[in-house]
Amino acid sequence: MIVKTRTPVETQALGRKLGRLLKGLDVVCLYGELGSGKTTMTKGIAAGAGFRGRVMSPTFGLARLYRGKRLTLNHLDLYRVGAAETGDIGLEDFLHDPKAACVIEWPQAGAAYYPKDRLEVRLSHAADGRRLAFKAMGRRSRELLRRLESA
Ligand SMILES: Nc1ncnc2c1ncn2[C@@H]1O[C@H](COP(=O)(O)OP(=O)(O)OP(=O)(O)O)[C@@H](O)[C@H]1O
Ligand SMILES: [Mg+2]
Repeated sequence: MIVKTRTPVETQALGRKLGRLLKGLDVVCLYGELGSGKTTMTKGIAAGAGFRGRVMSPTFGLARLYRGKRLTLNHLDLYRVGAAETGDIGLEDFLHDPKAACVIEWPQAGAAYYPKDRLEVRLSHAADGRRLAFKAMGRRSRELLRRLESA
């Protein structure tokens, strides 16, 4: 599925739809260059999980936890993490919490730890906004994508 959004508000709205569909153990990987909209998308996802507080890139930590009304969301940003360090950051604890879904910005470094069945989103700059390419990697993520398409 490919979606184009013209404004950050549209990207957030799409994120909110996805956030409403997520449940514990779901993993969403957000790939894309600086400023492509990963955190903007995450704001919407958190809103869809029922979280009302502030969402920002976990610049000074690695992870932020949003306790939404409906679902807890772990927001990870591995921008500053090298592949060799991923063993030290307890990635598994975030990924294996049955009550939480995970959204990961700059997910490259942690690739070895993700479940095979995850939703991958590739964000890029487009002439009139952003382009978001969604790819389901398994059964559950296919279901998510199917439901997102008709949401
Ligand atoms: N269609 C759009 N969708 C999302 N953001 C947009 C769009 N159009 C313009 N923008 C702007 O692009 C910027 C996206 O910033 P954001 O922090 O979401 O990017 P990011 O991918 O998380 O970057 P980083 O790699 O630094 O974490 C914001 O300033 C936002 O206002
Ligand atoms: Mg960001």
